[in-house]
Amino acid sequence: MNAVIQITSADARQYVCGDDGWFAIGSLDEVFGERACRGIDIEGVKIGLFRVDDEIHALDDICTHGAALLSDGEFEGHEIECPLHAGLVDVRTGRALSAPISRDTRYHETKIEGDVLFVRMQA
Ligand code: FES
Repeated sequence: MNAVIQITSADARQYVCGDDGWFAIGSLDEVFGERACRGIDIEGVKIGLFRVDDEIHALDDICTHGAALLSDGEFEGHEIECPLHAGLVDVRTGRALSAPISRDTRYHETKIEGDVLFVRMQA
């Protein structure tokens, strides 16, 4: 398990950029290092970040089948395998790909400005 980056309301005031709701998470090196996925916490909401080529995708980090952290699973290509029962999720969309996961995972917007990764959570 990776150390979790926690973003709080105080951080948000400091880091939110011009557009509503964008949270600055950190530089790509700070967030990922050599990893391809990472779990973070934005105001108590667990978010999984997944790197696919040059794109960063953000999903709720809680499997819709149970209580497992998706970012603790096996990540290959664009699929994350839940560490608890091995269901698959497409990190590019949050779409459930295989049983026992049947509900899609909420997807969040990301953007990179300079080298800084931003996430905007969906309602
Ligand atoms: Fe994720 Fe069951 S908790 S597949």
